[in-house]
Amino acid sequence: MTIIESNKNDNNIETSARFSVAPMMDWTDRHCRYFHRQFTKKSLLYTEMIAAAALVQGKAYHLLDYSREEHPVALQLGGSDPIQLAEAASIGESYGYDEINLNVGCPSDRVQSGSFGAVLMKNPRLVGACCEAMKKNTSIDVTVKCRIGIDDQDPEEILPEFLNHISNSGVRRVIIHARKAILKGLSPKENRDVPPLDYEIVFKMKEKFPNLHISLNGGVTSIDTARELIGRGIDGVMIGRSAYQQPTQILSNVDKDVFGEKSNRSAFDVAELMRAYLKQHCDKGGKPHQVTRHMIGLFHGLPGAKIWRQYLSNGSGDINIDFYEEALVAVTDSNNKSAA
Ligand SMILES: Cc1cc2nc3c(=O)[nH]c(=O)nc-3n(C[C@H](O)[C@H](O)[C@H](O)COP(=O)(O)O)c2cc1C
Repeated sequence: MTIIESNKNDNNIETSARFSVAPMMDWTDRHCRYFHRQFTKKSLLYTEMIAAAALVQGKAYHLLDYSREEHPVALQLGGSDPIQLAEAASIGESYGYDEINLNVGCPSDRVQSGSFGAVLMKNPRLVGACCEAMKKNTSIDVTVKCRIGIDDQDPEEILPEFLNHISNSGVRRVIIHARKAILKGLSPKENRDVPPLDYEIVFKMKEKFPNLHISLNGGVTSIDTARELIGRGIDGVMIGRSAYQQPTQILSNVDKDVFGEKSNRSAFDVAELMRAYLKQHCDKGGKPHQVTRHMIGLFHGLPGAKIWRQYLSNGSGDINIDFYEEALVAVTDSNNKSAA
């Protein structure tokens, strides 16, 4: 299999950005990222969105905790006040995050009422000011994750203007979720499926802005497709739901197929590696479910998937990890039987 060469000269984080796992609220917390990291050493991982105000006003620094093993890891911020974002970005940098990403794609009512997320697509000047302020206050990469437009905006018209503003502010990397967000009438969930995907406009933007590192996001459900898109000239691909729901299918071959590394890890390898993390988490007073809830899909599409799901779901109230050990034994049995 040919390995795809990056489309740009790159520093390390840019190399990693060739493949990333999307920021997902309530999903990509530190335990989920640690789990994903066991499959892939190279990919870039994103936090859930954290409101800048929660850090600056609420001083909720615990939201920033993570394990060293998660690097390279990007902190996604939500906000629209340049001063507050600059301070939040600097706090993020002091915690050792590798990148600060601004959310310009979330359509939820809560986020809209705070005048940030996707609604900022209407105000590229303000987004530029936010990015500039964050860049001035940090020495790490500042990036933006946006949509192709919102409501009745014409992406052909507004997207170049938007990208112009952010690249003038010094941003060198952007992730485009290749569909519009409809702010009234669609739920956040519907906004990930109903507005049609438009990959072509993302490729057009790459042609117009050859110096901008552009990652495409939305609806990619296989590494083959990711490779195809990179092969067509986009700099990176970001996958969200499929990586979460089918981590083995999506993540176990990324290092090999996208980054040209030798290693790849099976679902069993990762289940074994997670045992020590899980034990350590519980020894510190954590609940096993906080970790294992992200691992339900580990054996998706493989023998023993159902039994694994059942053990992990049934063990969600447990305080020790016996159910995890039992789940591993049951899945091993099931694999042995199907191989016999
Ligand atoms: C449960 C969930 C939570 C999400 N939370 C965020 C978020 O915090 N920030 C963000 O930029 N996008 C968020 N998204 C959107 C994803 O990052 C991604 O753009 C979207 O799911 C499309 O990619 P996909 O088709 O590969 O899933 C979320 C998506 C899901 C499914």
